[in-house]
Amino acid sequence: MYRVGREEIEEVTKVILSKNWFRVGDPAAGHLQETERFEKEWSELTGAKYSLIMSGGGTAAITCALAGIGIGPGDEVIVPAYTWLASATSVLAVGAIPVLADINESMTLDPEDFERRIGPNTKAVIPVHMAGRVCDMDAICRIAKKHGLKVIEDSCQADGGSYKGRRTGSIGDAGAFSLNQFKIISSGGEGGILCTSSREIFEKAFIFHDSGSCFRPIASELTEPIFVAQQYRASEVMSAIARVQLSRIDGILSDLRKNADAIVNAFKGVANAKFAPSNDARGDCGTAVVFQFENEAKARAFCTSPGIGGYVGIDHGKHVYVEWEPLLNRRIMHHPRMNPFNFEENKNLRMDYSKETCSKTLDILRRTVFVGISPDWTSQELESKIKACRDAISK
Ligand SMILES: Cc1ncc(COP(=O)(O)O)c(C=O)c1O
Repeated sequence: MYRVGREEIEEVTKVILSKNWFRVGDPAAGHLQETERFEKEWSELTGAKYSLIMSGGGTAAITCALAGIGIGPGDEVIVPAYTWLASATSVLAVGAIPVLADINESMTLDPEDFERRIGPNTKAVIPVHMAGRVCDMDAICRIAKKHGLKVIEDSCQADGGSYKGRRTGSIGDAGAFSLNQFKIISSGGEGGILCTSSREIFEKAFIFHDSGSCFRPIASELTEPIFVAQQYRASEVMSAIARVQLSRIDGILSDLRKNADAIVNAFKGVANAKFAPSNDARGDCGTAVVFQFENEAKARAFCTSPGIGGYVGIDHGKHVYVEWEPLLNRRIMHHPRMNPFNFEENKNLRMDYSKETCSKTLDILRRTVFVGISPDWTSQELESKIKACRDAISK
C-alpha cells in the first residue's frame, strides 16, 4: 500500500462505533453497508458484473475462482513459473495439479509455451500480471478459447492495471486481486477480491467463500445448490479501509506510471539500456522498471551499483518456481489422503517441477533487474534514481 491518511481512520471509526462489523446487516439499524458498497464500486472500476471482497487474501480469491469454475481432482491448470507460489498452491487447494509454463521477456506467461503445455487434462490457465506488468491477454484468451480452457487472471500484483483499455481481472472468466499490505492498495494488511461476469462462477465462488451462505439474504436468489467449503467472509472494518484505498487507486497508478515513464524515457537512444518489452505499456501499473541484460554478471553489476536498490529476478525467493519447496516436495495439506499429489484421479497428470521444466524462465530471471518505483518521489528523488541508473548502465 503506497498511501494512507486520516480518511481511513475516520471511516473505520464510523464502522467501529456503529457496532455493525459483520458484512450483513440492516441499514435502518445503522449498518453502513461498507462491504456491499465496496463490491459495487470495484465492479464499476473493473467492469466485471460481480465482485467479492474476502478475508483470505488473493490466495482465497484464486481458490474461489477455481472452485467457481469447477476445477478439481483430475484437472491440470497451467501456471507461469514466475509468480508468487500461491498461484500454484491455490490449484492444489481445490485438488487439481498445477502444470508450469515459461514466461517470456515481458516477465509474464509466454503464450506460445502456454499452448505447447496444454494436455488432454488441462482445464484452465492462470495468467499472472506479474510485478504490475500485464499479460498478453489477446493471445492467451485466443489460445484458451481454441482449446476450451477457462482463464483466471491473477491480478494480485496489478490492482487497477489495464490491458488495451480494459481493467485486469475483467478480461478472462474470473480475476483475483490481493489487498495485502504490499499491494497497490490494501484493506488493512490482508484481503483479496474475486471478480467475474459469470453468474455461475460468482454463485459457486460466493458459496465456497462463506460457510454460512445459506443464512445470507442472497441465498434465495442462488440457483447453484449450497455446499459448505471455506470461511473467507470480509468484515465491514476491512471494507471501510478498502473503500478509501479504492478512492486513491487511480491517483497512485498515475503517479507510479509517470515516474516509471520518466526513468524509461531518460534512456531513449541509449544503446546498452534495454527494458523488458511490455504487452501494454499504458496499462502496466508502473510499480517497477525492468532492465534486461545479456547475462547475469552484467545484471548483478547493475543491480549492486549505488542507489539502484533493485533485485535480480532469480533472487525473488518464493516467486521463482524452483524455490517453492512445499510444492516441490509435495507437502500439501495436513493429511496424506488430502494431498492432491496422492489422489488416484491425479496419478496420470504431469507433476514435473525440475530445474529443466522451465529453464527459459530461469535464464530470463538471471538477466533481469527490477527497480521499484514510488508514486511519492519528489522530483529530486526521481532525478537521483535516474542518475543512479545512468551511472550503473554507463559502467
Ligand atoms: C502474484 C500473486 N498471486 C497471489 C498472491 C496471494 O495474495 P495474498 O497474499 O493476498 O493471499 C500474491 C501475493 O503476494 C501474488 O503476488
